[in-house]
Amino acid sequence: MKQMSLFPILSFVVISFGVASVSAQICLNNGNFSSNSTFNANRRIILSFLPSNVTTQDGFYYNGSIGEGPNRVYARGMCIPGSTADDCSDCIKTASDGLVQSCPNQTEAYSWPGDPTLCLVSYSNTSFSGSVDSDGRVIFTNTGDITSNITKFTEIWEDLVVRMIDIASAPKDTPSSSNNYYTANIAALNPFQDIFALMQCTPDLSSGDCEYCLRQSARDYQSCCGKKQGGVVMQQSCFFRWDLYAYSKAFDNIMVASPPPMTIRSIPPSAGAPANQNDNTDTDISTTNSLQYEFEAIEAATNKFSVSNKLGEGGYGEVYKGKLPNGTEVAVKRLSEMSGQDTRKFRNEVVLVSKLQHKNLVRLFGFCLQGDEKILIYEFVPNKSLDYYLFDPEKQGQLDWTRRYKIIGEIAQGILHLHQDSHPTIIYRDFKASNILLDADMNPKISDFGMATIFGMEETRGNSKWNAETL
Ligand SMILES: *[C@@H]1O[C@H](CO)[C@@H](O)[C@H](O)[C@H]1NC(C)=O
Ligand SMILES: *[C@@H]1O[C@H](CO)[C@@H](O)[C@H](O)[C@H]1NC(C)=O
Ligand SMILES: *[C@@H]1O[C@H](CO)[C@@H](O)[C@H](O)[C@H]1NC(C)=O
Ligand SMILES: *[C@@H]1O[C@H](CO)[C@@H](O)[C@H](O)[C@H]1NC(C)=O
Ligand SMILES: *[C@@H]1O[C@H](CO)[C@@H](O)[C@H](O)[C@H]1NC(C)=O
Ligand SMILES: *[C@@H]1O[C@H](CO)[C@@H](O)[C@H](O)[C@H]1NC(C)=O
Ligand SMILES: *[C@@H]1O[C@H](CO)[C@@H](O)[C@H](O)[C@H]1NC(C)=O
Ligand SMILES: *[C@@H]1O[C@H](CO)[C@@H](O)[C@H](O)[C@H]1NC(C)=O
Ligand SMILES: *[C@@H]1O[C@H](CO)[C@@H](O)[C@H](O)[C@H]1NC(C)=O
Repeated sequence: MKQMSLFPILSFVVISFGVASVSAQICLNNGNFSSNSTFNANRRIILSFLPSNVTTQDGFYYNGSIGEGPNRVYARGMCIPGSTADDCSDCIKTASDGLVQSCPNQTEAYSWPGDPTLCLVSYSNTSFSGSVDSDGRVIFTNTGDITSNITKFTEIWEDLVVRMIDIASAPKDTPSSSNNYYTANIAALNPFQDIFALMQCTPDLSSGDCEYCLRQSARDYQSCCGKKQGGVVMQQSCFFRWDLYAYSKAFDNIMVASPPPMTIRSIPPSAGAPANQNDNTDTDISTTNSLQYEFEAIEAATNKFSVSNKLGEGGYGEVYKGKLPNGTEVAVKRLSEMSGQDTRKFRNEVVLVSKLQHKNLVRLFGFCLQGDEKILIYEFVPNKSLDYYLFDPEKQGQLDWTRRYKIIGEIAQGILHLHQDSHPTIIYRDFKASNILLDADMNPKISDFGMATIFGMEETRGNSKWNAETL
C-alpha cells in the first residue's frame, strides 16, 4: 500500500490487461522465477544501478541488460524532459525499489512513478522490442466525477488530447515535433479550473507506434472513465495522465493551451513550485477585506444596475457605470454563470491583479462575492476602446499619427510592466484594439489582463492578433 501514496487521489484500477498485480507497480503475468534464482540476483543488480545509469545518459534514457541465456535481465529507465538529475535519480530509485518489493517473482514488470518527477522503470527477460507492447496496460482514475457541463468538458478535453497526441508523436525533426515523444499542456476548462495533461512515449518507438500507443490510451480512458476528474493510463511504451491540478513538476512555465479561451495566465515566479500553488499567493485577510465590497454598496453605486448605467455586455456578463461614495467613477462587471465553487481562487486572483498599478493598465479596485453574485470593480475609462476609433472611417481622423505613435509606446510600457514587473509574471495574450481603453486625455490603458481565470471565456475569443498597420 505504501506505493499507492504516489498517486494519492487515483484510487482504483478500472481496467487492466494481463496484469498479475497492481499498485503503482505493474507486475505482468508473463512468468515466474524463484526468489533464489540467478535471474532474481541479476534483476536486483541491474535495477540498483539504474538510478546512476539513467542520470548519466543524455536525455535521461537508458536501456541495458545483464546476465546470459535464461538468466538475462533487460532493464530500462527514463525521466521526462526537464527533470533535474536529482529528481530523476530519486524517481528511478523509487520505481526500482518498488518493483523489487511489489513484484517478488514476476519476470516482467514496470512502473511510472509520478513523484518527484515522472519516470519509467521496466525490466523483462526479453529485450524491449521497439514496438508497442500493450500487454499489462492499466487505468487509474480519480474517484470524483466532473461536475460542470460534461459536453463542454469533453469538447475541451478531446481538443487538447488530440492536439497533444499530434505533438508528442510527430516524427523527429519535423516542425511541430517535440523531438522526444513528450508533451505537457494546460487547457482552461472554466474560470476556476484547468486541465493539466501529459504524454510520453518511450524513445525506441517509431512515430507511428507512439501515436498508436497514445491513441489507444486516450480511447481506453475515455471509453471507461470519461466523466472522471482525472486519470492515468500506463503502458510499458507510453504514459498518459490528466488532472485538474499540476503534478510531477511538469507544468511550471507552461501557459494555457490554445485555442485560448483565455487572455492570460499567471506563472509562478520560480521553477519548483507546482503551477497550482498560485492559490497560495494568498492574500492576507486585511488585503482581501479592503478590496471586498458589499453587494448593497454596488447596487447603490450603479443605481441598482439601472439600464441607463449600462455600458455594455458580453459572454461574461454586463458592465455598468457606477460612482463610489467618494465620487470616484467605476466600471462594474457583473459576471454571469459563475459557479459557486472556488471562491477562494477568485478572490486570490483579484488580489493579485489589484496589486498591479501602472498608468497604462486599467486598475482593478475590488470585487464583490455575495450569494451567486460575482462582481469586479474597475477604474472607469471614459473614451471607449481603440477599435472604436480605428475602424470607424469618421472617427479615424481623431487619432493623428503623433497620437497613434504615443499610444503604441504607452501600450508597450503597459505590456512590459505585466511581463517584467508583476509577480507572478503575467503574460498578456489577448492583444487587440478592443482591449485598449482610452482615458479622457486619450492615453491608452490595457484592460482584461489577469482576468482570464475569473471571467467567462467567450469574451476573449476571436482576433488576438495585433495589427500594427491599422494604427
Ligand atoms: C506463476 O506462479 C503461480 C503460482 O506459483 C502460478 O499459478 C502461475 O501459473 C505462474 N505463472 C506463470 C506464467 O508461470
Ligand atoms: C521469458 O519468460 C517466459 C515466461 O516464463 C518464457 O516463456 C520465455 O521463454 C522467456 N524468454 C527468454 C528469452 O528466456
Ligand atoms: C511467487 O510469489 C508468490 C507470492 O509471493 C508465491 O505465492 C508464489 O508461490 C511464487 N511463485 C514462485 C514460482 O516462486
Ligand atoms: C534455491 O535454489 C536451490 C537450487 O539452486 C533449490 O534447490 C531450492 O529449492 C531453492 N530454494 C527456494 C526457496 O526456492
Ligand atoms: C551502470 O552503472 C554501473 C554502476 O554505477 C556502472 O558500473 C556501469 O558501467 C553503468 N553502465 C553503463 C552502461 O553506463
Ligand atoms: C537499447 O536500445 C537500442 C535502441 O532501441 C537498441 O538498439 C539496443 O539493442 C538496446 N539495448 C539493449 C541491451 O536492449
Ligand atoms: C453544455 O455545453 C454545451 C457545449 O458548449 C452547450 O451547447 C450546452 O448548452 C451546455 N449545457 C448547459 C446545460 O449549459
Ligand atoms: C475612492 O475610493 C476608492 C476605493 O475605496 C479609492 O481607491 C480611491 O482612491 C478613492 N478616491 C478618492 C478621490 O478618495
Ligand atoms: C475623451 O473624453 C473627454 C472627457 O470625457 C472628452 O472631453 C473628449 O472629447 C473625449 N475625446 C474624444 C476623442 O472622444
